[in-house]
Amino acid sequence: MPDLSRQPNGAQLALELPSALPGLGIEPEWKAQPRLWGHSLHPMCSYLASFPAALPHAFIARYSRPGDVVLDPFSGRGTAPLQASAEGRIGVGNDLNPFAHLLTAAKLEPATPAEARTRLAALRLAFGADATAWVALGERVVARPGHPSAFVPATGSGGGPDARTEPVPDEVAIAFHPRTLGQLLFLRASLRLADRTDRFLAGAVVGILHGKTPSYLSTLMPNTFSMAPRYVRGFAARTGFRSPERDAFDALSAKLDRLYRQPLPTTGGLALLGDARTAGKRTRAALHARGLPDRARLAVTSPPYLRVLRYGYYNWLRTWFLGFDAQAIDDELDHAHHREPYLVFMREVLADLRSALTDDGIAVLVIGDVERDGGKPSATGLGLAERVWEEAAYPAGYRLAGMVRDEIAANRKMTRLWGDEAGQATKTDRILVLGATEAGRRRALAGAGLPIDWAWPPTRLRAII
Ligand SMILES: C[S@@+](CC[C@H](N)C(=O)[O-])C[C@H]1O[C@@H](n2cnc3c(N)ncnc32)[C@H](O)[C@@H]1O
Repeated sequence: MPDLSRQPNGAQLALELPSALPGLGIEPEWKAQPRLWGHSLHPMCSYLASFPAALPHAFIARYSRPGDVVLDPFSGRGTAPLQASAEGRIGVGNDLNPFAHLLTAAKLEPATPAEARTRLAALRLAFGADATAWVALGERVVARPGHPSAFVPATGSGGGPDARTEPVPDEVAIAFHPRTLGQLLFLRASLRLADRTDRFLAGAVVGILHGKTPSYLSTLMPNTFSMAPRYVRGFAARTGFRSPERDAFDALSAKLDRLYRQPLPTTGGLALLGDARTAGKRTRAALHARGLPDRARLAVTSPPYLRVLRYGYYNWLRTWFLGFDAQAIDDELDHAHHREPYLVFMREVLADLRSALTDDGIAVLVIGDVERDGGKPSATGLGLAERVWEEAAYPAGYRLAGMVRDEIAANRKMTRLWGDEAGQATKTDRILVLGATEAGRRRALAGAGLPIDWAWPPTRLRAII
């Protein structure tokens, strides 16, 4: 097998690169860990295509030390940077989706338990002072969602039940018991997302908006994602669906208990909102401004898969609560590329990221192979990790340390629930491990064989977290 670490001249590249990349000897031990392995803030809210916290741990533990910066330019719900912070690193997460940014920020700059509980108590009191009017508004919305008498105050506006600013979509009205909806309309109007404590509470509320057990505020949909609005309307009409009454304040209080099961990480982190193609530059500027080391020793990230997910559409109930436009999110994100533009996109991302890595920095990219696309087998999705190495990482100057294969169980529950979208699921993740330079590649090879402590909290960190 040719030595992939040596960078051939451009013209030779196509001839010298084999189709299968060398293994690294890292076994996907994260798959053997319990589902909720890791810090108790991780499950704040479900997020499509998030990786389990144990996955970034396998690389954070091998390839970084306490005090190092660990960056994820596509942070989603913030798994990698939160896990990094929980292990004493400086976790930095970036995402272009405002919903993902909110969750990442809530975890990296969390409210303390005292702040969250004090604010929740104040909100409960304020609601109580005007409960009759809020519940009457909830009842009007459920009875006649589009009617001007059922218009509601906007997210974070601070408006009272008479501030009739905007209509509530039919499918939102269907989802809740009128009393629960009255409480939610109050919380939606009251929580100001720019405030750290309110943002944390908002992240916790969207985490309990819908699901099948009594901890959730609506039983209309599973917790994993929002089902298509048209389907929801049809289902509710067919079955005469009525959501049970749930007390939003009690449910939120119970959610806080679960989130605060473990002490907050003592090392803070940073959440950035923006395009991954500039995440490296923005990360350096943000770290520099805070007097922190401005380059990451490790990046662990899972870029959006080829043409698989619409993060806005599949979260429409959560985006409604947060006041984000689901369609605008989907129009902006890079989820709908075919292979060639995707590779150009990834080259730009990786070139920018490299400038934010230390000289011995390592980048770990979790790349999903798309085996089916829109129900048909996908010719372009297979071998994507190889293409990302050849056409995006190599030209940006990285050195290849190797690849780790992670087989995903086919036909998972979530995929079944997707119905006609089920054919779009990915089946194998390939994890590329790259050095920013030759020093990074050597470090990646040297660390591959290290044994990992899978106890949580890790034995040597028990004193600090
Ligand atoms: C596979 S998900 C990452 C999930 C994450 N690892 C987690 O555990 O939650 C990919 C993410 O890329 C984001 N994304 C899509 N296009 C982007 C872009 N141009 N810049 C930054 N983020 C983008 C999506 O919003 C999504 O959160």
